[in-house]
Amino acid sequence: MDKQEKKTFYITTPIYYPSGNPHIGHCYTTIACDAVARLKRMQGYDVMFLTGTDEHGQKIEKKAQEAGITPKEYVDEIVANFKKLWSTLNISYDRYVRTTDDYHIKTVQNVFEKLYKDGYIYKSEYKGKYCTPCESFWTESQLVNGKCPDCGRDVTDASEEAYFFKLSQFAPKLKELLLDEEKNFLNPKSRVNEMIHNFIDPGLQDLCVSRTSFTWGIPVTFDEGHIVYVWIDALTNYISALGFMNDTYNDYEKYWPADMHVMAKEIVRFHSLIWPAILMALGEPLPNKIYGHGWITFGAAGGKMSKSKGNVIDPFVLCERYGVDALRYDILREMPFGSDAPYSNEQMFTRINSDLANDLGNLVSRTVAMVIKYFGGKIPEDKEFTDEDTDLYNAFDALPDYVSESYSSLRFSEALERIFRAIARANKYIDETCPWILAKDESKLPRLAAVLYNLLDCIRRAAILLYPIMPNTSPKIFEQIGATAEVTTWDSVYKKNLLPSDVTVQKGEVLFPRIDVEKEIEELNKQLEQQADVPSDLEPLKPLTKFDNFAALDLRAVKVISCEKVPKSDKLLKFIVNDGFGERQVLSGIAKYYKPEDLIGKTLGMIVNLEPRKMMGYESCGMIMSVKDGDGYRVVEFDDSIKAGADIS
Ligand code: MSP
Repeated sequence: MDKQEKKTFYITTPIYYPSGNPHIGHCYTTIACDAVARLKRMQGYDVMFLTGTDEHGQKIEKKAQEAGITPKEYVDEIVANFKKLWSTLNISYDRYVRTTDDYHIKTVQNVFEKLYKDGYIYKSEYKGKYCTPCESFWTESQLVNGKCPDCGRDVTDASEEAYFFKLSQFAPKLKELLLDEEKNFLNPKSRVNEMIHNFIDPGLQDLCVSRTSFTWGIPVTFDEGHIVYVWIDALTNYISALGFMNDTYNDYEKYWPADMHVMAKEIVRFHSLIWPAILMALGEPLPNKIYGHGWITFGAAGGKMSKSKGNVIDPFVLCERYGVDALRYDILREMPFGSDAPYSNEQMFTRINSDLANDLGNLVSRTVAMVIKYFGGKIPEDKEFTDEDTDLYNAFDALPDYVSESYSSLRFSEALERIFRAIARANKYIDETCPWILAKDESKLPRLAAVLYNLLDCIRRAAILLYPIMPNTSPKIFEQIGATAEVTTWDSVYKKNLLPSDVTVQKGEVLFPRIDVEKEIEELNKQLEQQADVPSDLEPLKPLTKFDNFAALDLRAVKVISCEKVPKSDKLLKFIVNDGFGERQVLSGIAKYYKPEDLIGKTLGMIVNLEPRKMMGYESCGMIMSVKDGDGYRVVEFDDSIKAGADIS
């Protein structure tokens, strides 16, 4: 049975880097995929919606080291925030892949081995710019004024042994794939030219796929010291999560090839060139379509994301203040597929007021209120339909195919614009038919019944069309207008007048309260000013925790007996300290800020009951406490009169 007969649908977001917390930019892709996944489920597809996190690499290794925790501990915390945001935003993902999951590691190792055995991966030398203190390789383009982008120091030419993937050999096939009109592989079309002119035609280079200069990655099974570098690890998530070359899942046959990989423009190159080439080398089918959308930009200067522009608002705050569906709607309504679009709070408030509160919210509340006022909440059987209704029906009849097609190709903004035009048509119908005048004349009650019934039924159809975007609001609307499950399916949106002829309505809560734009902006500005008063290098406050969590930590004063640099590391100092009970070894990443000899004899603060762990081959038993000071760290110090082993509380 082929995939089409099974009617499956596989859609993916990129796997995000958990090097920092999720922001509105990540929300856009994820909400867009969620809307498509929800639409396809309504249309009867067996959907697999995959999202996840890309957790390896030098950046994360470094951040964790700075924070004095393991890379896994570091990503665990941020992944929890991603998952919390997706749950707040009502994201209906079916599977969440982490590149640190065992099954993913297995797949990547198997894929790497197969590509090597089949001659698509070979060993050579990686040449780049090396910053010795940071122990990092950089490409020419990553340098800032020719210096290390991390520490600003000089870099030197250096090379290391590395494996390469024969990307260059796939250039002709990739060009053919991108130019295949029927396949329409890469969307929007404008990106096809970009790929061909910028990358294929100038000559595709083979791709470095392993490293030896850092360790936070998936080991190459057949060559110790090498770890798989970036793209083979990351891209393979789309098949590891289905069980390709691992035993954890068993859905590869069912869902692969993916119907849609969705991402922003900066990683289109990896998805439309490297990923198909890897699959070609593996002899596996290619995904059906790649969608590369634009960026949500922030602040007057534009740019992908800027925390300093003030306009970057925490998505959790936006959801709490204005509602999850308002945020989902606004983001998809403002962003035309393919281009960049600026985000602004003011624009969002205007949208909420005009589209959601005025047009949709009012239509529902006015209609329900009139049914209650004129008919006690239940539409009478006796109705008089007239030609005056045709135009209203037409406005909604024209929508379903257009909306389905637009949502499926991420043209949400166009689809929503059309739906809200139909909603405006329904509001106009109220003005044209003047129910309040019909209500005054007993003989016109059948006409009034038909008018209100028509309105309820159009609201039903609008709410079905909006469900993929506003999955919290549509069910509330269905409840208010008395629409039961059978008449809220996707199929039922094609037909008019499906509500029971004597339908009963229920007054409900206001769907979208109006926002006082000026007041709200003032309020947000106040919040931003308060934030601006806080130096930007301060970590945000962590949530409250139980006293027991604090009590579980054993904090002590310790005396430094010896201190020396860890060989080959520019960051780590190795201490022997006296904790009052005896001596122990502990490492700390403060070598850049202290001469080892200056610390000998000092009395420092230390967490003594952390589980031991290895860094650069040395065991570290506990953690020296230090305080962030600008870009550096200072140890927490006590005067000499404090005894070794004294309890800190
Ligand atoms: N880990 C890689 C992707 C590997 S996929 C096999 C990565 N991660 S990322 O965290 O940087 O995420 C980039 C993606 O997040 C973008 O491609 C896009 O989907 C989303 N966005 C991040 N910022 C965005 C905007 N400002 N606007 C729109 N989308 C944005 O790259």
